[in-house]
Amino acid sequence: MQTKFISAKLDRLSSPLLVIFALDSAEKKQTKPAVKLLTTGGPLAKATAPILNSGEYAAGSCETVLLHQPDGFKAERILLVGVAKLTAAEVRKAAGAAVRFAKPRKLRELTIAIPEGLDTLAATKAVVEGAYIGDFDSDTYRSDRKDQSIEQLSVVAGNGANPAAIEAGVQEGVILGEAQNFARALINEPGNVMTPTVLGQKAAEMCRQYGLQCEVYGADKIKELKMGAFWGVAKGSEEPPALIVMTYEPKKAPASPVLGLVGKGITFDTGGISIKPADGMEKMKYDMAGGAAMIGAMQAIAQLKPAVKVIGIVCATENMPSGSAMKPGDVLIAMSGKSIEVVNTDAEGRLVLADGLAYARQLGATHLIDAATLTGACVVALGQVNAGCFTNDEDAYRHFTGAAEISGERFWRLPLEDDYKDQIKSSIADIMNTGVNRYGGATNAAMFLKEFAEDTPWIHLDIAGLAWSDDAKPWMAKGPSGIAMRTITEWVRSYAK
Ligand code: BES
Ligand code: ZN
Ligand code: ZN
Repeated sequence: MQTKFISAKLDRLSSPLLVIFALDSAEKKQTKPAVKLLTTGGPLAKATAPILNSGEYAAGSCETVLLHQPDGFKAERILLVGVAKLTAAEVRKAAGAAVRFAKPRKLRELTIAIPEGLDTLAATKAVVEGAYIGDFDSDTYRSDRKDQSIEQLSVVAGNGANPAAIEAGVQEGVILGEAQNFARALINEPGNVMTPTVLGQKAAEMCRQYGLQCEVYGADKIKELKMGAFWGVAKGSEEPPALIVMTYEPKKAPASPVLGLVGKGITFDTGGISIKPADGMEKMKYDMAGGAAMIGAMQAIAQLKPAVKVIGIVCATENMPSGSAMKPGDVLIAMSGKSIEVVNTDAEGRLVLADGLAYARQLGATHLIDAATLTGACVVALGQVNAGCFTNDEDAYRHFTGAAEISGERFWRLPLEDDYKDQIKSSIADIMNTGVNRYGGATNAAMFLKEFAEDTPWIHLDIAGLAWSDDAKPWMAKGPSGIAMRTITEWVRSYAK
């Protein structure tokens, strides 16, 4: 998709599809919807008066109405798209809905008017991100697949708008939207294609393209580093594991902070010897979504160029049952020296992350963030609206909430208090990889990781409920969401401000 900014009067603009956002500003008691257009300018009120006066269109969130050959406009069509509130998050969704409206109608070009009443850069960025997110489709292996991608996205604003803010918004929006779709494409691939080796190749290719350092290590290095927890999972698979290390180190970066991004890269999770039920197991190809979020974030960081050093680590392996697989009851010695009793081989994500976090610290990370499709318990707790977030440091969390505010992605903090530690006490080793019972499973997993973050400020994101969407949304196809990648990127940027 090509993206550009046009400064023009709306009615003078030639476009097959001009998109205008609209806000439902009706009082609850009113019988007729009162719709406020978020872009003003002469003939627009006249062209939209019939539909708005009809009461047929209420501008609900992502609600669309199409006007052909609008009176007084050069554009062939005007599409009104509703927003529930005047926020960047709503605008992002509405832009996605506009793109998803255009795609099946064979419209390959659209122009979106930047809404008024929001910060210009933030509004433009949200529009562009939303459009990119909306453009992604996950049906890549269907032989009757039609490529419905948008070829040209334009954003338009009148003379009053600040062109520098719009240009910056377009640039950031493209970077973030492309990186999110890159992460989604990695997640979408089936486990037989996206093996740890291939994930390593994709990361290395991205790093080469955007000028990042990248090392992809195999089993020998994992053993040499004494990553006993990571290796415990990896040794059960015929597919070689990959320890992916991506480094962004700009000349202007201070010695501290150094940010460590650690992703769970289980390219397929069968559960191992504690094997999962067959029902729904096919979904476990997305168990590398945390790792993909980190690879996507590194791509965005390489282009946004914040003045801070960032190390991205993905621990990639399959979790398989086999003659060489770890067994319940086995004891693993992690890189940090801690001993772990493996009670359930399906709690493998925390094992690979334990060594990923320790390695990030060894490489000099002063602040850590991890993302992982870690627990079903987190999905039970928060559903598919908020991802879970945990932290051992209030300042890192303050940076994180600021980042999520910008990205519009939703996280809900869950507890991580020492009282929960009893849950993971083992009688044979330092800790065990599950809780003594099923209660508080998302926190138990986070408590386990906390042992490996040690005293380093750290954020843990459990994205199990949001990494994959079973249903299509008006603004987004079903399938991989790319959740957390934009928030992680904004979290990194917040340390360079
Ligand atoms: N990859 C799963 C978690 C998961 C569940 C991701 C649902 C996406 C959707 C993880 O490795 C796992 O199996 N966790 C277990 C932990 C348990 C054995 C303590 C779980 O949540 O059941
Ligand atoms: Zn598992
Ligand atoms: Zn898993």
